[in-house]
Amino acid sequence: MKYWLVGASSGIGAALAQELVRRGAEVAISARKADDLREVAGDDMQVVPLDATDRDAVLAAAEQLGDVDVVVWCAGYWQQFDAAEWDADVFERHIQVNLLGLNNVLAAVIPRFVGRRRGHIVGIASVAGYRGLPGAEAYGATKAAQINLLEGLRAALSKHGVRVTTVCPGFVRTPMTDTNEFPMPFIIEADEAARAIADGLEKHRTEIVFPLPMAVTMKLARLVPVRAWAALTKQR
Ligand SMILES: NC(=O)c1ccc[n+]([C@@H]2O[C@H](COP(=O)([O-])OP(=O)(O)OC[C@H]3O[C@@H](n4cnc5c(N)ncnc54)[C@H](OP(=O)(O)O)[C@@H]3O)[C@@H](O)[C@H]2O)c1
Repeated sequence: MKYWLVGASSGIGAALAQELVRRGAEVAISARKADDLREVAGDDMQVVPLDATDRDAVLAAAEQLGDVDVVVWCAGYWQQFDAAEWDADVFERHIQVNLLGLNNVLAAVIPRFVGRRRGHIVGIASVAGYRGLPGAEAYGATKAAQINLLEGLRAALSKHGVRVTTVCPGFVRTPMTDTNEFPMPFIIEADEAARAIADGLEKHRTEIVFPLPMAVTMKLARLVPVRAWAALTKQR
């Protein structure tokens, strides 16, 4: 089974790449930092550096890799800002990486998967996409969009033999969360996250949400009425 992980020079993507190799998979990894990719890969993975926001680079990488069975979108951008001092550039960067980067990867793999009537798209979104959270307006909006996009794709592509899995982690200790100055309940390590994802993929789960306490909390949060949610979160 050949996997292509986009956004695997650090954090969850890097840990997942190594976990998949341990489980016997053939793995190719992409991200911008070539040196970090090579360090993650050792002698065990193919390294294809790219910027996911560069569509030509993503299309060329897919061409270079040839037959891939599973593509895993792991790349992501997160930057907190105060909504009262709206930062249009930071908002736009979230869209560029988290949505337009994913769009480029989808454009590269969907025609191949549909043509072969076989393939698996895995997208790492976040439980932050379940409800609006102050300070995470930009990030949360892109994560909600990813969840919605992957859900639509799942239905649209199933008749073409293509599977779609949505991964929604809670807090994971990675370079992305290292600078967070707020409490991160139920935080887990990247290798635990990688095992949860690899286990979920082996079990053919449609949705992989972890860790369990965060999954339960955020699934219940979806049921909280809008006014009550506003009251609960406005102090944050
Ligand atoms: N950590 C958490 O608590 C948490 C929780 C829920 C969801 N997530 C999601 O999990 C995914 C992985 O995040 P992480 O926590 O592992 O963070 P991370 O360590 O910062 O990893 C992000 C990865 O994305 C890559 N990336 C960023 N911009 C890119 C671009 N333009 N082109 C190609 N690659 C790019 C980075 O590599 P380069 O810099 O080398 O390009 C890096 O490999 C993200 O989608 C994130 O939103 C994380």
